Amino acid sequence: MAIGIDKIGFASPEFYLDLTDLAQARQVDPAKYHIGIGQDEMAVMPQDQDVVTLAAQAAAQILTPAERQSLDLIIFATESGVDQSKASALYVQRLLGLNQAARAIEIKEACYGATAGLQLAYDHLAAHPESQRVLVLGADEARYGLQTAGEVTQGAGAIALLVTRQPRILELEQPSAYHSEEVMDFWRPNYRQEALADGRFSTEQYLRFLDLTWADYQTKTQRDLTDLAAVIFHIPFTKLGLKGLRQLTATASAAQQADYLALFQQATKLNRRVGNLYTGSLYLSLYSLLLFGHLPAGARIGLYSYGSGAVAEFFSGRLVAGYAKVLPTGASVLQQLATRQRLTMDGYQHLFNAQLPTDGSDWTTPQQSRQTPFRLAGIAGHQRLYQNNGGTIQ
Ligand code: COA
Repeated sequence: MAIGIDKIGFASPEFYLDLTDLAQARQVDPAKYHIGIGQDEMAVMPQDQDVVTLAAQAAAQILTPAERQSLDLIIFATESGVDQSKASALYVQRLLGLNQAARAIEIKEACYGATAGLQLAYDHLAAHPESQRVLVLGADEARYGLQTAGEVTQGAGAIALLVTRQPRILELEQPSAYHSEEVMDFWRPNYRQEALADGRFSTEQYLRFLDLTWADYQTKTQRDLTDLAAVIFHIPFTKLGLKGLRQLTATASAAQQADYLALFQQATKLNRRVGNLYTGSLYLSLYSLLLFGHLPAGARIGLYSYGSGAVAEFFSGRLVAGYAKVLPTGASVLQQLATRQRLTMDGYQHLFNAQLPTDGSDWTTPQQSRQTPFRLAGIAGHQRLYQNNGGTIQ
């Protein structure tokens, strides 16, 4: 039975910082950011957006009214959750009028969360013949802090994946290979808004887990690199994925390495412009590959998911004939990015520092976003208030 990704939606804030501006402000050679880190721009979250509004925007792009009513599982993966108890999936359910005869949950394991959600969606559809569709959301704001080593690897955005039988984009394959181990490479204690990371140690763990899961994938599936038309990676910054690609293709011929590299560049085009989505980053890379890679139907894609802490998974899927018809054009997505507002360093630092109150007081959010269909309007009586299409505050 074919199960996989039927539609993909993507949303990111309408504000960004050009990393040449950041480099100049931090007195760093811009080449370090553009080449050494492999990032060009990063999305910056305004106060009137959060992971709920971004995920709702991504999902609203792809769901028809009939699909909204036929979901029976809504999975929200995030490590930037807005509540310690309540699942963000419930806010999205209400904002989009999704089916209420559904399970709506939130899951967390750093940047691996959306993959956990996707595999759970697969298992749910395989186990429940009566279930038709699952919505998997991955939304995050990557915050490391001003003037930290990780500052250049920030970003924000959301991915929505509609998972079905007979999917129109990517048929997921089983088995996959996974590995988990308690590792302190990146974490965010409850009292902090910014992550703590040992960036170089994290890079080592990412690459070590890649070795482990890739070896296990080959053993389990009896496939090797030549069975994969392209390989995509979790992309906190594109240089890390590039290191993964080089490691994976180290013994391939020069011509094969060049082919994989060319596709990797297409698969990271959007990540370079948006920055780190944490758990959505692998799926933004998939989206980018599908929009710009022009792979043929049937092509097998290898996907490497890594979440610090750490859990990793290597899995694969095959492209379905006609997949491009279910997606927007690459040009239209680039056009959308081109309408974003470029921030000055002052504007970026102002938005970064302008956090919501943490003392329980009521709050009205200034209108900053102009294009988004959903806004965080404020907080009253400890409850977040969301605004739908400029209309009612709920
Ligand atoms: N031109 C081109 N490249 C340059 C350069 C220049 N002028 N100056 C430096 N570089 C290169 C370095 O050679 C290095 O390349 P390499 O990684 O291939 O060796 C790269 O830029 C980064 O330089 P480095 O000195 O290591 O940067 P840093 O100490 O500022 O830290 C990170 C970089 C990635 C470790 C840091 O941004 C970070 O911690 N980010 C958070 C990452 C994280 O933890 N994510 C979670 C992982 S899943």
